Amino acid sequence: MARHRIIIDCDPGQDDAIALLLALASPEEIEVLAVTAVAGNVPLALTEANARRIVELAGRSDVRVHKGCHRPLVNRLETAEYVHGETGLNGVELPPPGVPLAPGHAVDAIIELVMAAEPKTVTLCPVGPLTNIAMALVKEPELASRVREIVLMGGAIGLGNVTPAAEFNIYVDPHAARVVFESGVPITMFGLDVTHQVLVTRPRLEAIRALGTKVALAAAGLIDFFNRFDSDRYEVDGAPLHDPCVIAHLIDPTLFKGKPCHVEIETEGRSMGRTNVDWHPREARPATATVMNAVDADRFFALLTERLGRL
Ligand code: BDR
Ligand code: CA
Repeated sequence: MARHRIIIDCDPGQDDAIALLLALASPEEIEVLAVTAVAGNVPLALTEANARRIVELAGRSDVRVHKGCHRPLVNRLETAEYVHGETGLNGVELPPPGVPLAPGHAVDAIIELVMAAEPKTVTLCPVGPLTNIAMALVKEPELASRVREIVLMGGAIGLGNVTPAAEFNIYVDPHAARVVFESGVPITMFGLDVTHQVLVTRPRLEAIRALGTKVALAAAGLIDFFNRFDSDRYEVDGAPLHDPCVIAHLIDPTLFKGKPCHVEIETEGRSMGRTNVDWHPREARPATATVMNAVDADRFFALLTERLGRL
């Protein structure tokens, strides 16, 4: 199978960091064309620096990191230090990034990379609020027809995690999410229904720590911190490792199952940020995304652990 050529749009965030490491550890399946940062879990000044810290940790300072949008399209930025800590990467002490930001705004970098490539060869992998992706779609009218696919973490068929209705990435910028879901680009959606089946239980975490490498110890520290909030809230052993699902699916599409559905984004009111997924097609509207709802979690963690051991 040809390698996936991807742009990872992220807001690191511990689980974003693990997604980046998984991608950078998998050069046989994935070529990372660029990493673009957006405001989300923490403000942009932290997410862009954290993205650079992680590519350096992976020994991949050659990967371009672009700074993107500092706030959502319409709403005020809401961050999630209560989950990720003040730095976004609490749980590990990483030095300030040595590698500079790549020149150019993330939105322009996304457009330039996609438009310069053969049509339908570049996949966008957003794992934060969808602001940069929506801005790129609005700025370049040809972009939607040139992107191969958008594989994203966001939304939920069922309950949200910020409000009863909404998952964080969609809640933070629902207007951007609407632009993306109405773009006509093929979308694969990893929402909370599937990511909450990917729990970093204590044995899974210790298997990563036992690798003993610098990267594995950093990953274990990040996950250990990240585990606390969700373990307490949901009374489960370990947190959902949301964002790496996107990358794991590209490496091994047999890990996950889902089906095409119509998805509509709520942009107003108490359900703002809800992804209304017409799972049992009741409304006879065309599918807009393949919505994932099942995973072989043991195989997911076997893959993640083996790949982290390569860095
Ligand atoms: C999503 O929100 C962030 O907290 C995580 O990084 C993930 O992308 C989960 O709702
Ligand atoms: Ca994220």
